[in-house]
Amino acid sequence: MSSIESVSHETRVFEPSADWQRSAAIGGMDAYNALCKEAETDFEGFWARLAKENLQFAKDYDKVLDESNPPFYKWFTGGELNVSANCLDKNIAAGLGDKVALIFEADGGEVTKVTYSELLSKVSKIANGLKGLGVKKGDRVVIYMPMSVEGVAAMQACARIGATHSVVFGGFSAKALQDRIQDTGAVAVFTADQQVRGGKQLPLKSIVDEALSLGGCEAVKNVIVYKRTGADVAMQAGRDVYMHALADKQSDVCAPEMVDSEHPLFILYTSGSTGKPKGVQHSSAGYLLWAMLTMKWTFDIKPNDVFWCTADIGWITGHTYITYGPLAVGATQIVFEGVPTYPNAGRFWEMIQRHSATIFYTAPTAIRSLIKACESDQKVHPTSYDLSSLRLMGSVGEPINPEAWMWYHKNVGGEKCPIVDTFWQTETGGHMITPLPGATPLVPGSCTLPLPGIMAAVVDEVGGDLPNGQGGILVVKRPWPSMIRTIWGDADRFKKSYFPEELGGNLYLAGDGAVRDKVSGNFTIMGRIDDVLNVSGHRMGTMEIESSLVANELVAEAAVVGRPDDLTGEAIVAFVVLKGDRPTGEAGQKLAMDLRNWVGKDIGPIAKPKEIRFGDNLPKTRSGKIMRRLLRSLAKGETITQDTSTLENPAILDQLGKPI
Ligand code: WT7
Repeated sequence: MSSIESVSHETRVFEPSADWQRSAAIGGMDAYNALCKEAETDFEGFWARLAKENLQFAKDYDKVLDESNPPFYKWFTGGELNVSANCLDKNIAAGLGDKVALIFEADGGEVTKVTYSELLSKVSKIANGLKGLGVKKGDRVVIYMPMSVEGVAAMQACARIGATHSVVFGGFSAKALQDRIQDTGAVAVFTADQQVRGGKQLPLKSIVDEALSLGGCEAVKNVIVYKRTGADVAMQAGRDVYMHALADKQSDVCAPEMVDSEHPLFILYTSGSTGKPKGVQHSSAGYLLWAMLTMKWTFDIKPNDVFWCTADIGWITGHTYITYGPLAVGATQIVFEGVPTYPNAGRFWEMIQRHSATIFYTAPTAIRSLIKACESDQKVHPTSYDLSSLRLMGSVGEPINPEAWMWYHKNVGGEKCPIVDTFWQTETGGHMITPLPGATPLVPGSCTLPLPGIMAAVVDEVGGDLPNGQGGILVVKRPWPSMIRTIWGDADRFKKSYFPEELGGNLYLAGDGAVRDKVSGNFTIMGRIDDVLNVSGHRMGTMEIESSLVANELVAEAAVVGRPDDLTGEAIVAFVVLKGDRPTGEAGQKLAMDLRNWVGKDIGPIAKPKEIRFGDNLPKTRSGKIMRRLLRSLAKGETITQDTSTLENPAILDQLGKPI
């Protein structure tokens, strides 16, 4: 538990307004407590009621929750449905055909609006195109696309025909893409000629070509290319096809393929504490149910809302709160191609104003960078825009520090918008611990209380309950519908990673430390307790970066740790031992730059270490174990006060203590 260091002492509390309590989906703590009680007294009955109210099954399920083979829980077994039909056809049948589903704003500012009917027709054409290529129910399809209507439509098209998609963030390298194509055994890849971000055109199709040339991707029969910029790209005859050429000639009617409740809707890779990223497998019925419920409870979504989640479809937030949740509840949402700082750091605020966004959901890292940007430029300050349309704001991906929370509350929300600080993970499918607007008193920096039906708790190293006020390990005691089903192709790793024997084998281990407030019971997340870093809300495994560094022919050994960073939350610091002599001065700077680029090329730019230090060795115990806690202190620039008596080579600390 050595990494659980900080405990919040926040005392500011923001009670919900009377208006909010009256109008919210869950207004007031009594309503919240009643739902929690319902879940506690009749767990299955609770979920059955919610499924009935929210999901459209083609065939009814027999059993709400099958716990016969823990931790491989199954929900709504025997049921059949189609997720795309629940997002599109259902809403059109309910009269929302002409309602705008997507307001797409391109990097350069062009706006395209797509109604539910138009989206269904687009999705159906792509789905028919996929079928024409021979893609079938159960096949895997990798999507490596920019933020676009087409990206969302490609995901929905896969869901429509029962193909399992795996979206790979457009910032990942050819090598990372190849890994995922190979691991999923994908039969097709969606991509674009290029992506456009911050006024720059960046390659995508050529990276797919490179990934496929690395081998192991022989199952891929087709690459479907969305023409984003019209740049000249190599098209391999018989394999590559433009998306419009494939889709335009198709019928705009495609009967949705019914799938089992447990059918894998998607696989999404995330970093773990060991080297290889984990393919998190999600279900169809349970996942969709939670996406819908959290849209209603956490975001209080109403028919006239304009919802905006700024995440990328390459992350779980973009899956649940762009592609599935908002569409399943018939909402209008903004989809943004670009970056928050282009053409200037007022872009988010300008877009909220332009589209009259009512609900805004973003990451603390974006907030922190925009705070910084407007310090020196009043023009891009949120108060220079008309943000009066906003009624609710959210935060996701990492802890939000109380000062950033206060700034967001005051300057963006005008002190009238509740902030939902949503704690969740790729594995949880949707929100887990979050305030509910209109109910939960808000405390800056705390994600407050678990959603009804989510049995979150703080336990010790052997799974025993800890009293409030005492920091420990965050777990979930009962399954929930949108939980991870398994790690694709590695059931054993799933079991070991998330339901470890040390905790008794039946608690879901989130991987974070947490503490509950003595009085309110509010949760405060204290960061990862494993070797996972959170850089700008992106999860990075230290082992993954270490493996990448040692794959370089000059490197003998590497250890990677996180260091607190004002802007990115955590920053990556790498300690490297070379096979040859330890470089210093300019030679050291040059090599550090080369190695940063090496990691960027190997994994993706988000994995580049912020700082690299070279040593003749790493601090190790006599038995050869790297003492990471010392490296963490060195990275922070602290003088070592910890016990170093087990250290084999204390002199090394001096060498590693200073930047190059
Ligand atoms: C990890 C999960 C949730 C979708 C995006 C990230 C951290 C996430 C919060 C929050 C404190 C948070 C945790 C978690 N995290 N949200 N509101 N407060 N920490 O998903 O990449 O799977 O990362 O992000 O450490 O375990 P992810």
